[in-house]
Amino acid sequence: MAIVIIRQDDKIESWMTAIKAAAPEIPVYSYLEDHPKDEIDMALVWKHPEGVLNQYSKLKCIASSGAGVDFIFEDRSAPENLPITRVVDPMLASDMSEHVIALIFGYLKNLNQYKIDQLNRAWNPRPYHRITDFTVGILGLGELGKLLAKDLYHLGFKVQGWSQTKKTIEGVLSYSGSEELPLFLKGTQILICLLPLTVETTGFLNSNLFQQMPKGTYVINVARGGHLVDNDLLEQLETGHISGAALDVYHQEPLPVEHPFWTHSKIHMSPHCASVSDTASVVPQIIANYKRVLAGEPLLHQVSRNRGY
Ligand code: NAP
Ligand code: GLV
Repeated sequence: MAIVIIRQDDKIESWMTAIKAAAPEIPVYSYLEDHPKDEIDMALVWKHPEGVLNQYSKLKCIASSGAGVDFIFEDRSAPENLPITRVVDPMLASDMSEHVIALIFGYLKNLNQYKIDQLNRAWNPRPYHRITDFTVGILGLGELGKLLAKDLYHLGFKVQGWSQTKKTIEGVLSYSGSEELPLFLKGTQILICLLPLTVETTGFLNSNLFQQMPKGTYVINVARGGHLVDNDLLEQLETGHISGAALDVYHQEPLPVEHPFWTHSKIHMSPHCASVSDTASVVPQIIANYKRVLAGEPLLHQVSRNRGY
């Protein structure tokens, strides 16, 4: 009875340390070390290499160490009958909210342009915007979108959101379903994508969607690179229909150096770091789920295989 950690970055050690500190009685292994594969009940994964998960014949649960699970569904070789869990964590939500709010203020106050001006030693004061000037529209009012919506409302922004099902959030106009999407888009001037990447949402941020928004809309994608059609964004930036974009996520990560986003003056980039699972904050729910797996109890934060999130 044990947990294996499978990920390709340099964080295996810190997750192992955090699990051992919180529950020294639970055996936990890195997938890179020699370990008893037939004793593994839970795989704690983040962008694992394809083909690894089906090496564990007794596996009972696949746990994403982040909010998203798209990379698990993308692995066609992963066992199809096992429950998948994800992270729901207040710190992950507040980190995301702080990141997006920083991006919105950067846009309101022209901070990206001033950085470019500074590099060119150009003295170029520009008109700036205020909180009350714009309606912010959030695609996805789940764990992350919901907190962001509340925080923006409390800062004084006009806020609306779009999700599969209607929400009741103080000060936030809620739209749902494809029939209400056009109305949501028409009234949005700063668009934030916080949808999960699923079959339905792949390529969602495309020219057709952008064209339904007011001229000058600013786009922030902090969800997944697969939501965005890169060439459509470039086209819309060229025509000025979209005034600028802030991107944290990309089709390929790291983004290849030749990609046009790197040098685009209207695109602000960050390297998929908007909100990163904090091991100390997240490990208690991983351990709780491990114990539930062993006890055969319902799991926390289990995703729906049908919906894909
Ligand atoms: P979540 O709680 O599952 O919320 C997803 C939201 O999207 C829900 O409101 C859901 O509607 C809505 N939705 C899903 N499919 C839809 C569709 N086809 N049409 C309309 N609405 C749809 O997810 P979360 O925890 O907020 O996380 C969202 C995503 O953020 C993650 O999946 C991940 O990709 C990304 N993320 C990025 C970072 C980063 O550092 N850049 C960090 C963490 C997470 P219902 O509420 O009606 O179901
Ligand atoms: C990060 O991208 C996450 O899904 O937690």
